Amino acid sequence: MRITITDWIHKVLEGQIKEGDHCIDATMGKGGDTLFLCQRTGQSGKVTAFDVQKQALEMTKEKLEKHGVKAKLIQDGHEHMANYFASGTIQCIMFNLGYLPGGDHQLVTRPKTSIEAFEAGLRLLKVGGIMSICIYSGGDSGFEERDQVLDWLEELDDRTYFVIKEDFPTKKNHPPMPVFLVKLK
Ligand SMILES: C[S@@+](CC[C@H](N)C(=O)[O-])C[C@H]1O[C@@H](n2cnc3c(N)ncnc32)[C@H](O)[C@@H]1O
Repeated sequence: MRITITDWIHKVLEGQIKEGDHCIDATMGKGGDTLFLCQRTGQSGKVTAFDVQKQALEMTKEKLEKHGVKAKLIQDGHEHMANYFASGTIQCIMFNLGYLPGGDHQLVTRPKTSIEAFEAGLRLLKVGGIMSICIYSGGDSGFEERDQVLDWLEELDDRTYFVIKEDFPTKKNHPPMPVFLVKLK
């Protein structure tokens, strides 16, 4: 048996998403999380995915077509996501920070725009909705984004958000760090 950190994030989110929900993939990339959200929300649900790279939209479109599911794919920065939806309408928002594997390492998520996007995302979440953030560090990514995101998390109001940060002590070389935020009110 093999379990990846992405599988684990999907397992955590599975229980929080039902058919008919509206969800956002804030970092579309190759569309793995977009596909997961489409499969969870079903035909009556709605999935919107953002990426700054045309290449990501093309790869994701192809992946979704192969699996016979649909999502709205938007080429825009996730920091603008509040322009597209009403507050309190989204059940789940996924962020997978870093750069597109095999793509341009310059087109990486940046702490300032990522935090702007988290703040926009928290406003869009329904009460009881969940945001996941998978933080990458080390290597090309360095530690700046991880450290700024962790500092930002500590400032959140404990009565408004239930915040979970996970780590994997047996994994070497700075494994990704999943964070989950549940909106309580
Ligand atoms: C680690 S990849 C995402 C992987 C993806 N979840 C998957 O399943 O393949 C991070 C993605 O974030 C995108 N990105 C970088 N800055 C962004 C921004 N401001 N808004 C939206 N996407 C951004 C990159 O282009 C890249 O495709």
